[in-house]
Amino acid sequence: MLKKITNLLTATIILAASTFGFSAYAAPIVVKFSHVVAENTPKGQAALKFKEIAEKKLPGKVEVQVFPNSQLFGDGKEMEALLLNDVQIIAPSLSKFDRYTKKIQVFDLPFIFKDGNAALAFENSKEGKALLTSMKGKGLIGLDYWSNGMRHFSANKDFKLPKDIKGLKFRIQASDVYEEIMKSVGASGQKMAFAEVYQALESGVVDGQENSFSNTYSQKYHEVQKTILETNHGVLDYMVVVNEKWWDGLPADIKKGLSEAMHEATILNNQIAKQKNDDARAAILASSAANPKHAKIVKLTDAELAEWKKAMEPVYKRFEADIGVDLIKAAASHSNKK
Ligand code: LMR
Repeated sequence: MLKKITNLLTATIILAASTFGFSAYAAPIVVKFSHVVAENTPKGQAALKFKEIAEKKLPGKVEVQVFPNSQLFGDGKEMEALLLNDVQIIAPSLSKFDRYTKKIQVFDLPFIFKDGNAALAFENSKEGKALLTSMKGKGLIGLDYWSNGMRHFSANKDFKLPKDIKGLKFRIQASDVYEEIMKSVGASGQKMAFAEVYQALESGVVDGQENSFSNTYSQKYHEVQKTILETNHGVLDYMVVVNEKWWDGLPADIKKGLSEAMHEATILNNQIAKQKNDDARAAILASSAANPKHAKIVKLTDAELAEWKKAMEPVYKRFEADIGVDLIKAAASHSNKK
């Protein structure tokens, strides 16, 4: 008799739970976060931090699954996967949004930011924040920017000036601005997914590439390149984006918890980004000292740097109409130029 009553009670509770959605019986919402870089990078670490905080803030309500190293989706596929809700969060480099908005191309203009802090100041400005919602009509919402670091060119030969890379082929991200940048110095750019770059450099499919020290070191590009020229020609930062429909459909408490977790992950990311890049630079120097076949890091004098800037200047004109003069001015204002 007692058993019967207990069974009846259990059945009633389960029925009530399924009818009214009691969370004690609901499965956690799975949030897949896919990215293309190694775990020991600013983005890799920040994604893990987001998982840790989100699951702590929303115990039993969300499960965040992080997939690094293009394990789940690589470049080219991750944006489509997000729109299909096959993945819920991605954090592509700002060079990879060409197809969704022309405005974000502003980040790729050569030498527009004198350093990572200038880029961060623009990201936190009114104009920078407005870009987070500029792809709403396309189904994407940006939650935040994450910093990585400044970009530098590397090649399988010694080079110092634009004329030295004439005719060489460089792997570039899926960015029309970078295609023009390479043309402006007489080289060519080949758009290629991040996961394919090491192999392409090693086999000579491309002669060079451009990236942050953190990516260069964690992907071992320095082992298959001869020279890394410290050009600081651009910033490699990210926008953390979600599928608009999925995000808007989340229960209020989940959305709040995930937003707070994202905020904390952003703070961590931006605190560690510079250090991670400085450490990677030091590790590349050590590696080149121990093995002369590994790339050396070459610095530029002011006069040499001026040659790179001058050669790339026409790129601005080419994209001015698409991006908008005011936005270019706003971005450049944080470096006290233009
Ligand atoms: C690249 O493709 O080189 C970078 O965008 C990779 C990344 O996410 O840092």
